Amino acid sequence: MNQFSQNFWNETNVLVTGGASFIGSHLVDKLVSLGSKVTVVDNLSSGTLENLDQSKEKITFLNQDLEYISKSDLDKVFRDQEIVFHLAAVHGGRGYITTHPADVSSNYSIDHHVFEGCNDSNVKNLVFASTACVYPTKLQDTIGSDYKLKEQDADPTDLDKLMSADIEYGWEKLMSEMQLNAFKKQYGLKGCPVRFVTAYGPRENETHAIIALIYKAIEKMNPYQIWGDGNQERDFTYVEDIVDGTILAAEKISDGTPVNLGTGDRYKMIDVVNMIFKILNWKPDKLEFDTSKPVGALSRALDNERANNLLGWSPKFNLEDGLRKTIDWYKTSHKIEGNVDQDILLERK
Ligand SMILES: NC(=O)c1ccc[n+]([C@@H]2O[C@H](COP(=O)([O-])OP(=O)(O)OC[C@H]3O[C@@H](n4cnc5c(N)ncnc54)[C@H](O)[C@@H]3O)[C@@H](O)[C@H]2O)c1
Repeated sequence: MNQFSQNFWNETNVLVTGGASFIGSHLVDKLVSLGSKVTVVDNLSSGTLENLDQSKEKITFLNQDLEYISKSDLDKVFRDQEIVFHLAAVHGGRGYITTHPADVSSNYSIDHHVFEGCNDSNVKNLVFASTACVYPTKLQDTIGSDYKLKEQDADPTDLDKLMSADIEYGWEKLMSEMQLNAFKKQYGLKGCPVRFVTAYGPRENETHAIIALIYKAIEKMNPYQIWGDGNQERDFTYVEDIVDGTILAAEKISDGTPVNLGTGDRYKMIDVVNMIFKILNWKPDKLEFDTSKPVGALSRALDNERANNLLGWSPKFNLEDGLRKTIDWYKTSHKIEGNVDQDILLERK
C-alpha cells in the first residue's frame, strides 16, 4: 500500500502552487525525498517560508501572486514543468471561509490561471487540491449517519444533474473541477481533482479545528470553549496520508476522475476534545459550548474505495496516533502565553 514509483519522480520537474502551506509544505518535503526538482510558487498570504525549512536548500521558491499574474509571468512559472500540484487557494478553517466568502471567491481567478498555465506549457499531469466541501450538505445533515460521501455525489462531468455544495468555498472548488474538465474536453488537458477531507497535523495553524482545540488545551482555557454543541462529526485525516494519496494520484490518474482522500472514520468533536485532554493529561473544570459559531456540515466522512482501487491508497494513521504526533509538534512550536486569543481563530494565518 502507498507505494510510489521512484522512476516517475526522480529528476522530474514538479511545480507546487501554494507549496508554503500546511499540506503543500509536507508535499514538497516528500517530493524532494523522492528526488524531484521542485519549484514552489506561493504569495505567502497564509503559507510561510518557515514551513519550507526542511527543503529550502533543495527547491526553487517563487514569491508570486497567482490571482493577478500576467500572461508572460504565467508562462515563465509553468515553462518546463512536468507535473503540477495546485494547492494555492484563499482558504482557512470554518470560521474564515464562512466569514470571508468574497475573498474565497478569488480562487476562481487563481484556478483559472493555473489551468491556463498548465495548458499552455508541456505539463503532463495536474493534480488539483479539491475538498469534501464539493458535496451536498443535505447528505451530511444527520448526526450519527453512517453514509460515506462517494465521488459520484458531486460529478462535475454531468452538467444536467442538480448540484449542490458547502458554502462559497465548496461551490468554487466544484466549479473549478468543472473548469478543469472543460480544459480537458476542449484542449485535452490531463489532470485530476483530489478531494481532501479535514486534514490535520504539524504546521497547521489555529484557524483549523484540531489545532484550535490543541491550542486551547495547551493554554489551559477554563472554561474550555467548543464551537457548536460538540456533536458535529468529521473524518479527520493525517497530513502524511493526504500527501501520499496526492502523489499517487499524480502517478495514476490523468483523465479528470475525482478521487476522495479520507479515512472513512467519523469522530464527534467532543470525542476529539476528550482524546486531546487524555494525551495532555489535563482537563478543564468546565466545558462551554458556543452554538453561535459556524460548525459546517453536521456529519461528514468520505468513502475511500475509489482511492483504494485506483491508487492502492489507504490511510496509515488512526486519529489517536495522528493527534499524538500533532501535539508533540505543537508543544515545541507554540510559546505558551496563558490565554487564548479568540481573534486568530477566525483568520487565515
Ligand atoms: N487543510 C484542509 O483540511 C483542506 C481540506 C480540503 C482542501 N484543502 C485544500 O488544500 C490546499 C492547501 O490547504 P492548506 O490547509 O494546506 O493551507 P492554505 O489554505 O493556507 O494553503 C493555501 C496556500 O496558497 C497560498 N496562496 C493563497 N493565495 C495565493 C495566490 N493568490 N497566489 C499564490 N499563492 C497563494 C497561501 O499562501 C498558502 O500557502 C488548499 O487548496 C485548500 O483549499 C485543504
